[in-house]
Amino acid sequence: KRRVAILISGRGSNMAALIRAAAEPDFPAEIAVVISNRVDAAGLQKAAASGIAVEIIESKPFGKDRAGFEAKLQQALDARGIEIICLAGFMRLFTAAFVQRWYGRMLNIHPSLLPSFPGLDPHGQALRAGVKLSGATVHFVIPETDAGPIVMQGAVVVKDDDTPETLSERILGVEHRIYPDALQLLAKGLVRLEGDLCRTSTVEQAEQS
Ligand code: GAR
Repeated sequence: KRRVAILISGRGSNMAALIRAAAEPDFPAEIAVVISNRVDAAGLQKAAASGIAVEIIESKPFGKDRAGFEAKLQQALDARGIEIICLAGFMRLFTAAFVQRWYGRMLNIHPSLLPSFPGLDPHGQALRAGVKLSGATVHFVIPETDAGPIVMQGAVVVKDDDTPETLSERILGVEHRIYPDALQLLAKGLVRLEGDLCRTSTVEQAEQS
């Protein structure tokens, strides 16, 4: 099984969905550690309660020294033999060097149909734009925020009386379904990053390579 680290900053509901999926015997990846950059992330308790190893690597003391934070993070990832990183509500940007190091091996989830509505308040952005469909996107991480080759998307209908809260709740249901599916594809080698594109192969092709 591929060894996965989930990085969180908060609630950790996507983390919990990944942990649940990975508990299935035939899931191709195991959650080796959950790492939070914030001591107060609620997801830490959830992870520990599931028997998953947790680590806190605070980013705040590093201030603008992103490389310093990443060096400490990389140490922790190396120590645990991590092969894949899943960002799950991890609210800190990485340097291009760190992203390059994890090229094709780091996924993120964002609650909009990217490339629409990247960045902060995607639900408010979607409502203000008046779109009739929104959703969630799992994508490979590239240096630009909330961009990168798309692995999987799921859509929901936007209702006239939606608020950011009700829309976010509906999209979260989609997030919890597609993130485990996307991780499964990556762990099985069925998707890979080639230049700027996410390539999907059939099971037969993956077995040959
Ligand atoms: C999720 O909706 C995730 O898509 C979003 O933060 C939330 C974290 O919730 N991520 C981003 O906005 C990244 N730009 P969770 O901690 O319960 O998984």
